[in-house]
Amino acid sequence: MSRLQALHIGIVGACGRGSTFATALGQRSEQVCVQAVCDTNTGALASSGELFGASATYTDYEDMLEAGSLDAVMIATPMHLHAPQSIMALEAGLHVLCEVTPAVSIEECRQLVVAARRARGHYMLAENCNYRRQSLLVEELVRQGLFGTPYFAESEYLHEVRDLNERTRWRRRWQTGIDGITYGTHALGPVLSWMPGERVTRVCCAGSGHHYQDPRGDDYHQDTHVMLAQTGGGGLIKIRLDMVSSRPSVTTTYQLQGTEGCFESARRADEQDRIWLSSIHEGPETWGFLKDLESQYLPTRWREMFNAVGEAGHGGTDSLMSLAFLDAVLNDEPPPIDIDRAMDMSLPCLISQTSMEQQGSWLDVPDSRNWSAGSA
Ligand SMILES: NC(=O)c1ccc[n+]([C@@H]2O[C@H](COP(=O)([O-])OP(=O)(O)OC[C@H]3O[C@@H](n4cnc5c(N)ncnc54)[C@H](O)[C@@H]3O)[C@@H](O)[C@H]2O)c1
Repeated sequence: MSRLQALHIGIVGACGRGSTFATALGQRSEQVCVQAVCDTNTGALASSGELFGASATYTDYEDMLEAGSLDAVMIATPMHLHAPQSIMALEAGLHVLCEVTPAVSIEECRQLVVAARRARGHYMLAENCNYRRQSLLVEELVRQGLFGTPYFAESEYLHEVRDLNERTRWRRRWQTGIDGITYGTHALGPVLSWMPGERVTRVCCAGSGHHYQDPRGDDYHQDTHVMLAQTGGGGLIKIRLDMVSSRPSVTTTYQLQGTEGCFESARRADEQDRIWLSSIHEGPETWGFLKDLESQYLPTRWREMFNAVGEAGHGGTDSLMSLAFLDAVLNDEPPPIDIDRAMDMSLPCLISQTSMEQQGSWLDVPDSRNWSAGSA
């Protein structure tokens, strides 16, 4: 594919989170335009179309694809629609940026991978946590060898969504209705990027029981889940997901341990991300602050992009992630979170749900790289 001159984008789920994708498009306004928006929310659709300057609005996704005017779609609908809508767009020859999670079952993952292999368009998962300053900086420090060999990582997603469940009822089914790690890419995505070349090969998962009920008196899934994940190289990752327990939100926390250093992200607003690297900090008792390494180690292109996009959309991460997708498409390069990286972040979480059904058994995680275009 030659370098595209103008990329026509369609946004589905445009009246919800899809609006944040559009914020980034202004950065590439000479090469990209929002051609169409789609949402089943008829009350808000017209104003969403106007806001993004879209030429067309649709309440039906297939109608938007069949109109044939798009090069790419950005998908921000509820989770269970992601795989079917991604597959439809890939089969229509379009590029796809899709919100997390990419799919809600192993079988959907397999179908999505096959569709992506066969497609001429690129697929990218919209995992914005990989585009945090903190995440990009630790990734660079790992790349430069300053952590030595990373061998342990820990991450939590602690975000109570009981009220939000009632306003967006798909969450009650797909995020808080199934035992296991239902919404795990925000936790697993960044730590995998800090263990380069690694993939989770087996997992086990346990839950803390049921201590909360929804307004109808039904149990949510178990309150807290902990997944242990082993990587092919012998590394260990611990993921905790809790979306129902009463507590102040910390959303995500991260830790990394390597042979030559460690990192612990802040848990509260009055704390700072801490780091200790044997080659930079004095004794093993002396923590440093991650931000103090930013001017020297955060790659210039990320610093410039953060300056350009500002803080809107999860501290600018939504824009950086969207721009990474647009640049991959415009330059016809593989997107940074391609279909196999998307699966590396997602398949362990889906297998953790099977582990929960099997009393916490250790189970193997399939490698999507073995799923070829001919295996449908
Ligand atoms: N990366 C992040 O930080 C982040 C944050 C929030 C949500 N999300 C993800 O974004 C997605 C959307 O979340 P949300 O909070 O905006 O949800 P939401 O329910 O508030 O919004 C979803 C939108 O999709 C529309 N929609 C539903 N079914 C549709 C269909 N068949 N066709 C067209 N439009 C349809 C709804 O009308 C709504 O406007 C979810 O998958 C969620 O996991 C990611």
